[in-house]
Parts: sequence; structure tokens; C-alpha cells
Amino acid sequence: MAFEHLSSLPAADLQSLDEPELLARVKALPVPRHVAIIMDGNGRWAVQRGLPRVAGHREGVKAARAVVRAADAVGIHFLTLYAFSSENWSRPSSEVSTLMSLLERSIDRELPELMANNVRLRVIGRPKGVPTSVREGIDRVVAATAANTGLTLLMAFNYGGRDELVDACRALARQVQAGEIRPDEIDEDRIERTLYTQGVPDPDLLIRTSGEMRVSNFLLWQIAYAELVITPTLWPDFGARNLYLAIAEFQRRVRRFGGV
Ligand code: IPE
Ligand code: IPE
Ligand code: MG
Repeated sequence: MAFEHLSSLPAADLQSLDEPELLARVKALPVPRHVAIIMDGNGRWAVQRGLPRVAGHREGVKAARAVVRAADAVGIHFLTLYAFSSENWSRPSSEVSTLMSLLERSIDRELPELMANNVRLRVIGRPKGVPTSVREGIDRVVAATAANTGLTLLMAFNYGGRDELVDACRALARQVQAGEIRPDEIDEDRIERTLYTQGVPDPDLLIRTSGEMRVSNFLLWQIAYAELVITPTLWPDFGARNLYLAIAEFQRRVRRFGGV
């Protein structure tokens, strides 16, 4: 899909707009259905201020809240936030346990606003390995918001793109072994239906904060044709304006999907 036929302001002009004007501009053009975000840079944000890394994670929760609101306001249908990767267990145990308790405390606190905004929470990642109290908290919010019909918020938690593909391979192998399908019935559709993201369209836009030029094991299958926007802004400093500017950048892109 290319949007060149629609008027879109040059990047520099958009920068000068305030948030409501920017929102209106972005909403006037087609917005991505699914935005996925690698929320990176909490640690650096804290270190720059002489604070412990966990202070950055605490600010990061506030940024996530603001971005969920903004995603809803602009009309995105699916928002996936990378909160904790399968590799993040390798961090010092004090940081890992703080991250877990931060999540446990914030998830319940977010429920009233998720309900008020009709947001449905889904979690992608392996439940195994996540402390029981954290898992129960997440499950409670997932169940409470299951019937909501607005924005679907996918939280990637204990998520690894390779884990996801391993789990899909195992599930499909079991179906073959049980005689339910033949190997040649495994195609892209069937693989998609076996991923954690089943029923969710692929991300149109992948944003990474804090400037790293890598995907860090995020949605490896699903980002095949995502447009990438990498911003130097550290995650705790990322807000509604930054999301709208990233969408505006997306709206200037010409997607080809291998065609001309
Ligand atoms: C992202 O910020 C949050 C998580 C990975 C949980 P980081 O903690 O990776 O921050 P930096 O990249 O070290 O600055
Ligand atoms: C990716 O960030 C994971 C999350 C944002 C949850 P990392 O900080 O873990 O990625 P690397 O280590 O820089 O690749
Ligand atoms: Mg990082």
C-alpha cells in the first residue's frame, strides 16, 4: 500500500505541530493496523541521571501507559509491546526480580483504565518460568478484559521469536504424529495459526527506541514485511508525540511486498 496520493506533511513541518494537531494529521491518513514496539533504553535513561537501572524501568511503565492511550486515540487495532525477552533472564537477578515485581504491581493497577478504554490484553510468550504470582496477576487481567472489543494490547512477556517458532514446530509435529494432518498440509497459513499471535495480522510498523539497529529475537516470523522506524529516543522519554511521528514516517513509506 502506498499513500503518495494522499497529502502528508514533510517530517520537519510535523515536528513543529502540537500533539492534538499532529494526531489530527496522522488520523487523516491510513494508520497501521498493528504496531509493535521494542521498548528499549530504560537502563540508559536511568544511568544518564545517576539513578539505578530499575528507576528507568519504573519510568518505562509510565511511558507504556501513555503509548497505549495514544495508540487507542489514533485508531490502531493491535499494539504489541516487548516487555521481557527470553534472553532478559540473563540479567542480574536483582534486576530481574525488580522487573517481575514491577509488572506484578502495575498490571492490576492498569485494569480500571484498560476496562474504561475497552482494551483487551493478550500475552505472548512462554508461561513456564514466570513466577506464579506474576502469572496469576496477568491471567486475571487477561480474563477480565477478554470481552473488550477495542484495541488489542499484546504484551510480549518471557517472549522469544525463536521459542515461538520452536513451540509451533512441536505443535505441528504432534498433529502430524497424531495423524491429524499430512506434512505437506503445513503451509504459511497453518504456521501462522500455530504461533502465539494467531488471529493477529502481522505488524505493519515496528518501532525500536534507543537507537539499536537490531530486532533482538522479536516477532521473527511476523515482521517479514514490517516497516522499521528506529528512534534515538530512550523508552522512558517516548510518548504520544513520538508514536504519532513514527506513524507519520510510516505514512511516507512505499510498501512493495516484493512487487514493483
Ligand atoms: C528495556 O530497557 C527494558 C527491558 C529490556 C526489560 P533496557 O533495560 O534494555 O535498557 P538499556 O537498553 O540497558 O538502556
Ligand atoms: C529487547 O531489548 C527486549 C525488550 C525490550 C524487552 P534488550 O535490551 O534486551 O535487547 P539487546 O540486548 O540490546 O539486544
Ligand atoms: Mg536494552
